[in-house]
Amino acid sequence: MTMPSTSRTRSQQWFERSQQSLVEGVNSPSRGAAVFSPGPVFLERGRGSHVWDADGNEYIDCMMSFGALIQGHAHPKLVEVVSQTMAQGSHFAAATSAEVEAAERLRRMVPSAEVVRFTNSGSEATMLALRLARAHTGRTKFLKFEGHYHGWYDPYLLNAHSHAPEKLGPPENPARMPDSKGIPAAIFDDVVLAPWNDVAALERVMKQYGRELAAVITEPIMANMGCILPRDGYLKQLQSLAQQYGALLILDEVVTGFRYAPGGCQEYYGIQPDISTFGKALGAGFPVGAVAGPRSILDRMRWSEDMVLHYGTFNGHRLTMKVVAANLDLLSVDGAYQKLHAVGNVAISGLREVFRRRKLNAIVQGFGPMFQIYFTDRNAIHDYRDYCTYVDTHLYSRFVHRLLERGIYMTPSNGLHWIISTAHSEKDVAVLIEAADLACTDLR
Ligand SMILES: Cc1ncc(COP(=O)(O)O)c(C=O)c1O
Repeated sequence: MTMPSTSRTRSQQWFERSQQSLVEGVNSPSRGAAVFSPGPVFLERGRGSHVWDADGNEYIDCMMSFGALIQGHAHPKLVEVVSQTMAQGSHFAAATSAEVEAAERLRRMVPSAEVVRFTNSGSEATMLALRLARAHTGRTKFLKFEGHYHGWYDPYLLNAHSHAPEKLGPPENPARMPDSKGIPAAIFDDVVLAPWNDVAALERVMKQYGRELAAVITEPIMANMGCILPRDGYLKQLQSLAQQYGALLILDEVVTGFRYAPGGCQEYYGIQPDISTFGKALGAGFPVGAVAGPRSILDRMRWSEDMVLHYGTFNGHRLTMKVVAANLDLLSVDGAYQKLHAVGNVAISGLREVFRRRKLNAIVQGFGPMFQIYFTDRNAIHDYRDYCTYVDTHLYSRFVHRLLERGIYMTPSNGLHWIISTAHSEKDVAVLIEAADLACTDLR
């Protein structure tokens, strides 16, 4: 049975009040009125796969903190670890056994991780990865792909947002569109932009710039235009092209890490990055990131006059490190990933069936623990340009707002994705499918 959420009075009152103290009433535009109409739902508590808002309405959470909550809300083991650790002191900014134990577990799960450096967010991890790559290669330029988001560090903020198709320019020479004001134009002189999922295009770009590149950075699954899968063999070809030109491959697994397999997408697709970045699911709801790779690269951070500098009061935060270790232990239990995939696949096939029955042109793209719905006439969305050209993001937003009224919590932004955590059950999926079916009534 779906759970219709009736009143939003308290959320609206909080939203009015929040405008006095916070810009747009929130701490990131993706949480406010730019996405939620007429304003955001204020969430007050969560347990397992469910959340409750300020008006007491209950929802099944399918956004899961943009994917951070791989164990759902308030997992009993993590609550216990946090309470015990907190009672002993949350952080010392000193060497601790907690950070060693967290790093050991990460190394066990991710074969390319010879050594690890923890940061406080995915953005910090990708910043550090680029600095390491530049120091290691002695080169300055790097290649990023259209529509990929790697956090809010200046040089990554080129063509990370979607735009009207007529603004994109030709794929062989994409129009360069900064995502933020306040970034000196010269920063982007070092950024080479290429379309993703297109080997021929990448070969052309590498031929021109490959020898100047410190790194090629990519998401393994494009997770900031919904959920766009790499074409068969694409990531392997990308890896070998980077290698051929002496550019490091930075695999940004901030979204995909610890989600598809113990070793993330690099395990799933059989690729060996030079540097990997993690975040989100690593911390099961606590703010953390990580850079992992071989000693030959990460050892450049060792103290010396020539070191790559990476400081941070909160690096290896003790409380967070305890959560990371406990989270990775939970994910290492037999069957954890099978369950994530099985529940996700039931949701995906159920939603596909709803759209088929309702005769709506919609596809569900992805597999297992992460997927996205696109209202489109196409059979698949393969890249940024497909997303900008063929996806009806307004219809998606309407659909999700209807789901919010029926007890399903999700962001109406089509650029994000549906997340299955270990807390979700097939019962939750059945509720989602029923709500989705009702939300489709007279949708167009
Ligand atoms: C692929 C990718 N990399 C990096 C980041 C930045 O992570 P954070 O938001 O923790 O700074 C994100 C955030 O959504 C992301 O999707």
